[in-house]
Amino acid sequence: MMRLTFFLLWISSLLIIAGCTPQQPYKKYRIGFAQCCDDPWRDVMEREMLRELAFHPEVDFNIRVAYNDSEQQIAQIKEMVAQGIDILIVSPNESKPLTPVVEQVLKSGIPVILVDRKTTSEKYTAYIGANNYEIGTTAANYIASHFAEKGKIIELQLGMTMTPAQDRSRGFKNAVSKYPEMGIVAQIEMSKGMDELKVAFEESLKAHPEANIIFGHNDFLAESAYNWAQESGKDQYLFFVGIDGIPGMGKGIQAVEDGILDASLLYPTGGSDAVRLALAVLNNLPYEKENVLQTIVINAANARILHLQMKKEESLQRSIDGQIKQLDDLNSIYKNQQLYILILVFSLLMAIVLGGILLKSLRAKNEMNKILEVKNREVLEHEQQIVHMSDELRTATNAKVEFFTNISHEFRTPLSLILGYIESLLTAGNTGGKEAKHDLTLVRKNALRLLQLVNQLMDFRKIENNKLAVRASENDLIGFAREIVKAYQKMADKRNIDLVFQAHENTLPVWFDVTMMDKVFFNLLSNAFKFTADNGQIKVAVVKDVITNRTTVKVEDTGKGMTKEQQERAFEPFYQGTRSKGTGLGLSLSKELVSLHSGQIELWSEKDRGTRFEVVLPLGKAHFREDQLMREKPDDINYEEDLIYFEEEKNAENIHQQADKENEQTLLLIEDNEDMRYFLKKQFGKNYRILEANGGTDGLKTAVEEIPDLIIADIMMPGKDGLSLTRILKTDLRTSHIPVVLLTARNTMEQKIEGIQTGADAYVTKPFNLVFLSEIIKNLLYGRASLREVFSAVIQPGQFPASMGDLDQQFLRKFTGFVEEQYTDQTLSVERLSEEFGLSRVQLYRKVKALTGESANDYIQHVRLRKASQLLLEGELTIAEIAYKTGYSSPAYFSTAFKTKYACSPTEYKERHAVK
Ligand code: FRU
Repeated sequence: MMRLTFFLLWISSLLIIAGCTPQQPYKKYRIGFAQCCDDPWRDVMEREMLRELAFHPEVDFNIRVAYNDSEQQIAQIKEMVAQGIDILIVSPNESKPLTPVVEQVLKSGIPVILVDRKTTSEKYTAYIGANNYEIGTTAANYIASHFAEKGKIIELQLGMTMTPAQDRSRGFKNAVSKYPEMGIVAQIEMSKGMDELKVAFEESLKAHPEANIIFGHNDFLAESAYNWAQESGKDQYLFFVGIDGIPGMGKGIQAVEDGILDASLLYPTGGSDAVRLALAVLNNLPYEKENVLQTIVINAANARILHLQMKKEESLQRSIDGQIKQLDDLNSIYKNQQLYILILVFSLLMAIVLGGILLKSLRAKNEMNKILEVKNREVLEHEQQIVHMSDELRTATNAKVEFFTNISHEFRTPLSLILGYIESLLTAGNTGGKEAKHDLTLVRKNALRLLQLVNQLMDFRKIENNKLAVRASENDLIGFAREIVKAYQKMADKRNIDLVFQAHENTLPVWFDVTMMDKVFFNLLSNAFKFTADNGQIKVAVVKDVITNRTTVKVEDTGKGMTKEQQERAFEPFYQGTRSKGTGLGLSLSKELVSLHSGQIELWSEKDRGTRFEVVLPLGKAHFREDQLMREKPDDINYEEDLIYFEEEKNAENIHQQADKENEQTLLLIEDNEDMRYFLKKQFGKNYRILEANGGTDGLKTAVEEIPDLIIADIMMPGKDGLSLTRILKTDLRTSHIPVVLLTARNTMEQKIEGIQTGADAYVTKPFNLVFLSEIIKNLLYGRASLREVFSAVIQPGQFPASMGDLDQQFLRKFTGFVEEQYTDQTLSVERLSEEFGLSRVQLYRKVKALTGESANDYIQHVRLRKASQLLLEGELTIAEIAYKTGYSSPAYFSTAFKTKYACSPTEYKERHAVK
């Protein structure tokens, strides 16, 4: 940014310098020149002026030519004055017409210099030119001397409106008059044009045959006369004299040299003198008002030498011109160089300034570099320390893992021994009864699980240390996968899971390590079963892709799915994102095993929708090294170990079936720990009908649906915990009467109070004494029974034991009141009561039964018959009347109902009690 600013500054400065340097010389004066005519003599005049001006670059010179037109000349003068001039040089076309404008200019303060011709007034600054009167006199005297003071002359005059013509004519005439034998026979003025002049000349030649001399007011007129005379052959006898005498081809001097003119009088133009005079006026230098230029006679005797001189002068002038031009060039070179030097100096200055800045910034940079170096060194040192520490940490971790692995390894032998003993006990059938067998099976299951964990850990370490060797053989992948799926079929049937196996081909030969892939697929299926709820679906599909030459095994479930974070970390070792019961090694191990086959394992999952794993394996064996290939087929796999997990479930089912007895009170066990549930079920299954739920949500559902007699719930559970579950149960009319026992490991007094506050009937801390728990259950159930007894004995609404919850008291009050009110109505039925209390028939049944010991229907009968028995004793109504009054549709039906309850007919009852 800084560099760019400097660059722009430099460039703009250069432009300013360049702009300020004068390319054109400074114009101090403006000279206007009003030229009357355009002819060779005037050309000479202008050349002279310009030559002089070459030495004065400070002058701005402007020529305007009027082409013999006085009016035009007046206009041109006015124009120049309006544009601004410091001095006016004018050669007036005619004296009279030009006089006022010249006076006007002078009056306006602009000096006026007259050249060659004059005005009629004396109001001008200065005049320069030859003395035309003297020229006329000199011409006459020369002719007189040449012709011995004799001769007749024809005078060809310029326009007599101009002063040179007037003066020349006057001077000539006066001088001629001094010679008695000389005379001017004709005066012809060139007023209209050359053609008319010619006619007049030829006429006067004829009229004056004695005329022998032609005097022209300029060389041009004299030469023209010569030419006209030549036409009539008279040129030989005539003597031609002109004025001007300008050098150059076909001009006056040349004409004298060539014998066309006999003589010419030099009429100097005064061009350079006019410029000098103007500058003198402008610079306030002394000058003369009248400046007379000298004349000489040019004739055959001096024409040549004069011409040569003039030519020489001309060539000298040209060389001067050349030098002036060179000077100009040098001047402009000098000016350019001046500019370059300026730029150079400025650039140098800028360079110095920039250099200074650069030096400063370099110094700052060096300082910064030094600081950075120190920082860098510090960072490096830190880095080395970190590397060192992480090395130490790695070594320590490795040592720990190694130790842990070794210890785990040590577990294998004792575990194998335990398993061996159990196997032999189980096969010998020497287990001492069904229950002991089941317990042994459980021990076996857990020992196998431990062994599997140890094995997984060992495999994982081996993979980490690159020591797990692939032993690939060619196997039918479809058959292999189908066998594994089959092993899960029973489990699927039991949990009503739709287990589907799909494959397009019958067989699919694939090279893989059977033991490794067995672990992978079992792991994926076991995961699918773990996270899929009953009645769900698990699909296994084997797909062959001929284009990519790969095969994919998909394991898809409709389970609870994973969150994004769980998906991302699913393959990390020891990660247990879900409430997995495993080590967290299964998926990570599977991934490693698949990659040992140059395959991939991928995962798609959506929360509450399901999960799909895909294992992609390359076909053929090119991806294996020679030493990874196995010639013989491996032994058949024994899936027993893998399936052991599920045996417990099978046994549990048996127990459940055993315990499912009629007429027993029902306990609902809400506990997420399967083993604990099993334990409780086993303990209480003998005496109660057991219902199970593996969490709060499930438990609540079962409680509402089944209305058990008592609920045992754990507090710490995923989803709905025991406390909130109890709160809901106790505030729901359908379940509020059910006693709840909370089990928990939390045993502070506050926690216990919190538990009881939820409305729980008992609070038992783990580890608990089984007898204690069993007594609590008995007491609570007994409490209900005694309550019922009390209740049915009193049969008085509004009198309830204090142990009964508020909600239940409210319900009972309302329920008994309602029946008391409505019992006379024949339409009073369970349906109407259900509607009235917003409970299903079953719920109403269970609730009323739990609180009163009777079904709702029985309770209505009970009330009706009680009322009926009272009416019978009162003896005022007939049996038929009593029947209808107590809500029976017919006396017959009443009698039957009465008999069933009192073991005698209404009549007998009446009689019996009347006797008493
Ligand atoms: C040129 C000229 C000259 C003459 C002078 C008089 O225009 O005619 O030949 O000497 O002017 O002003």
